[in-house]
Amino acid sequence: MTGEPGMRYETWRALALWGEEEAAAAMEVIRSRSLFRYYGPDLGHRTDTFEREFSELAGVPHTVAVSSGTAALTAAMVGLGIPAGAEVIVPAVTFVGSVSAVVAARGIPVFAEVDDTLTLDPGQLAGLVTERTWGVMPVHLGNVAADMDPILEVARRHGLRVVEDAAQAAGVGYRGRPVGGLGDAGAFSFQLDKNITAGEGGAVTVTDPDVYDRVARYQDQGGQFTTSKGATRGSGDQPPFIGTNTRMTELTAAVLSAQLPRLAPMCRRLRDVARQVRAETADLSVQWRRLPDEEGSGGDLTLFLESRLAARRFVAGLHEAGIPAHTMYQGQTVTSNRAVREGRTPWGVEWDRPPRFRTSEGLLGRSVTIGLGAAMTDDDVTALVAAFRKNWEGATGQAG
Ligand SMILES: Cc1ncc(COP(=O)(O)O)c(C=O)c1O
Repeated sequence: MTGEPGMRYETWRALALWGEEEAAAAMEVIRSRSLFRYYGPDLGHRTDTFEREFSELAGVPHTVAVSSGTAALTAAMVGLGIPAGAEVIVPAVTFVGSVSAVVAARGIPVFAEVDDTLTLDPGQLAGLVTERTWGVMPVHLGNVAADMDPILEVARRHGLRVVEDAAQAAGVGYRGRPVGGLGDAGAFSFQLDKNITAGEGGAVTVTDPDVYDRVARYQDQGGQFTTSKGATRGSGDQPPFIGTNTRMTELTAAVLSAQLPRLAPMCRRLRDVARQVRAETADLSVQWRRLPDEEGSGGDLTLFLESRLAARRFVAGLHEAGIPAHTMYQGQTVTSNRAVREGRTPWGVEWDRPPRFRTSEGLLGRSVTIGLGAAMTDDDVTALVAAFRKNWEGATGQAG
């Protein structure tokens, strides 16, 4: 999807800027023979360093580096003390990993419609709250922050925990603040498609020191190394509990640290490219995805056509011109995943079939996301605008 053959440029953002820095950082760790974060013959404490750097980026006091975004979401909910069987409200448009994490944390997902931001519709939230609701998981989808102010307001009113799924949004902000520090905890992914990557990886961002302590311990067998001698964090004051192992390796951390300095300039550049394309097509009546905070976005060019068929036609036309484009999640809400729909977890059927999410289905199905590449040239942008204009008439019947 992101490295389609025949396209003018690649949309794996982090890979487009990949360089010698990653190779040097990785080689240094390998030469040190110290790939485990807690000890080794010549430990470089690269995971500690990455956590400090990422905290600064997310504007939070604490980060816990883990092995994936799903692990990060799970650890965030466990760290915040989710009770077994508690409900977490999740948007109907997201990656299945949001749901997997709720299940892994022993919660029950309850789904909500998205609006024309393709993120959780704040207007739907209050109506879904029951006495079993514990939290809400806004998803910052495709480098666009969810509309957090009204979500936080409803959450405050109903005493809900807010876990930001920022898997797709490293470097993205909302009204002047980075995502990941807006709710009670944030979770990031460093899988291949993300803004910085080591193939896999994740991070939890937290403010509360007790939550931090619980997150750090959970991903480390309840505190195998975080609370033992030589540990760099974890107070050890709280009662012990059994956790899991989703620790990050030194190799992963070193590769991610090499990319961090590029993140903010990359998001700025992609935001500027998106602005330029919108400006150069301003004479066409395009229904762009509404961005709750355009200024903080990490570059998004998603628009709605009048039908699924028109969206498919538009994508095909752009592809013909070598411009990457797709409809997110093939136009399918996460509730159309069979296991999600049937409530099937590894431990049996845990929830009733959710309703259809017709608004979300409609919006997602007729959406087209034009891929932006971190190494796009001005010529690529010109070609994108030309292909957009050329295909607009065919897709919409409106002169381009
Ligand atoms: C919205 C969303 N949530 C969660 C995840 C899970 O992250 P990971 O694949 O690193 O487990 C992803 C990543 O693909 C995602 O896009």
